[in-house]
Amino acid sequence: MPLVAFVSPKGGVGKTTLAANVAAVLAAQGHEVVGLDLDPQNALRLHLGVPIHEEGGFLARMAEGLSWRDCVRPTRAAISLLPHGHAEPKAALDLTRLVLEQPEVLASQVRDMLSVPQRVVVVDAPPGPTPALSAVLPLADVICVVLLADSGSASFIPSIASGRFLGRGTLAARSAQKAMLVLNQVELGSPLSDAVLEFAQQTMGDRPVSAVARDPAVAEALADRRLPVEGTGPGSDDLALLAERIEGLLALAVPQDRDKPRPTFSALASWGHRR
Ligand SMILES: Nc1ncnc2c1ncn2[C@@H]1O[C@H](COP(=O)(O)OP(=O)(O)O)[C@@H](O)[C@H]1O
Ligand SMILES: [Mg+2]
Repeated sequence: MPLVAFVSPKGGVGKTTLAANVAAVLAAQGHEVVGLDLDPQNALRLHLGVPIHEEGGFLARMAEGLSWRDCVRPTRAAISLLPHGHAEPKAALDLTRLVLEQPEVLASQVRDMLSVPQRVVVVDAPPGPTPALSAVLPLADVICVVLLADSGSASFIPSIASGRFLGRGTLAARSAQKAMLVLNQVELGSPLSDAVLEFAQQTMGDRPVSAVARDPAVAEALADRRLPVEGTGPGSDDLALLAERIEGLLALAVPQDRDKPRPTFSALASWGHRR
């Protein structure tokens, strides 16, 4: 039933990395997880071991009237993945227009995904406001806003706390209540990181603020087709803690068969083209 969306006014801040790792932890905890990629960059699949030449997906083909069920791509992390899919520029523009004019085309499919109570939908969004994100955000239970711990990102924090980055009006204000902030690539001991973290905590008030350390192992894991949470180190620990926090915020029911053996992250490591 619940939906968590990874969003940001900025690109390159770690939305996809965080979405993939949180989805994998939730799946390893025994939850049924659907990973929904709304970003035409189509990168969520790469974190989950889908070969780069495999270009099929959900959003890119939604205009053809396909159901999301026909587009699910199982992955070794036990995530039912809906990759965005490859879209030529003209098709991408047509898709944007379709969702802008008829948000229900997408929203009704996401509602259908959410119709099974024990299912968790993890959304990886493109940067900034987009019609696809606007269609999905009213259905979100947790909106995980990702920023870097730098001054460029800090300037966005007040608009995240007020909800202005989601637009004006009551619906945007309602969504803002569901926002949590994650500062990614925090450098321990850096005065700038410390200052941005403190500013974020003050500005967000009683809404959650999390931090993920800058850790080269996080970037290297992607190049090696692994998920950072399967490793050790500051980035891995923070990603696991973030997943735990989101699991708590979503108030997920404990899966009945939690005691059954789960696919381990190391099983993931053998997937795809690992060197
Ligand atoms: N905590 C981190 N430490 C080091 N590198 C990171 C971290 N988080 C993300 N990265 C790297 O930053 C880049 C952008 O991350 P990505 O998840 O693609 O961002 P977005 O989805 O917001 O565009 C990637 O190369 C990723 O490996
Ligand atoms: Mg991304």
